[in-house]
Amino acid sequence: MHSITEAPFITEITRICTNMYSLGWDERNAGNISVLLDEEEITPYLDKDRILRTVPTGFKVPSLAGKYFLCTAAGKYFKNTQYDAALNLGIFRILEDGETAGILWGYSDGGQFTSELPAHLMSHVSRLSVDQKNRVILHCHPLNLIAMTYVHSLDEREFSRTLWKMETECVFVFPDGVRVIPWMVCGTNKIGEATAEKMKLSRIVVWPHHGIYGAGRSIDDAFGLVETVEKAAAVYLKIAHLPVKQTLTDENLHMLEKRFNVKTPEGWLEP
Ligand code: 13P
Ligand code: ZN
Repeated sequence: MHSITEAPFITEITRICTNMYSLGWDERNAGNISVLLDEEEITPYLDKDRILRTVPTGFKVPSLAGKYFLCTAAGKYFKNTQYDAALNLGIFRILEDGETAGILWGYSDGGQFTSELPAHLMSHVSRLSVDQKNRVILHCHPLNLIAMTYVHSLDEREFSRTLWKMETECVFVFPDGVRVIPWMVCGTNKIGEATAEKMKLSRIVVWPHHGIYGAGRSIDDAFGLVETVEKAAAVYLKIAHLPVKQTLTDENLHMLEKRFNVKTPEGWLEP
């Protein structure tokens, strides 16, 4: 059996935690990541039948029973993941009842998966229903995006249109736009359900005055989405108080849709 710390998925999540911390998106314990793993990925490193302990998730996701997740720990700091992966991360399988996590590795101080597990697992279900290849749900607190939620309309069409116009490639990177939920108490099943509902329509969900959720087929994919939205939000905040002399038009966005063969939601662009 190989050492789990040599597993590519551990190296990758550790690097991204460090990177996201350095970008200022994950102060203190902010942010959480979950990665759906195939059984074949973990068996070189772990005995899948050796459950160390079980933890109730507090909600039921029957369609995820038997699935394996790598997930950041509750209350732990992204900046420290690189120094102690087994403390700051964990791997678990959702047991047959669909509501218990069987921990196979990690959370070494007796801790557990992120407090945002409802949003993660429910969003995995939503994304898998539209893309069987989705593997990653990633949450963080990017500065400019959060700031934007104080000064911009939270109407998701308006919010998306503004972001698309802040950088030419935005409409190609996230043609579905961003979805926005109302402010809610975090770490609850309710915010998880609201997030997952929006995740059926888009891979990006904004939590006003809190942060963002991104979904993707890989860590890079989900990270790249958040990175692009955050950059657009930064451009918006740089120009929001200045007289705008020109911008991308809806006609330009239609041209980009054609060029990149993507489609924005019906009615979100002027014809
Ligand atoms: P956790 O430490 O439980 O992952 O929570 C961090 C966070 O960002 C809550 O929204
Ligand atoms: Zn958060």
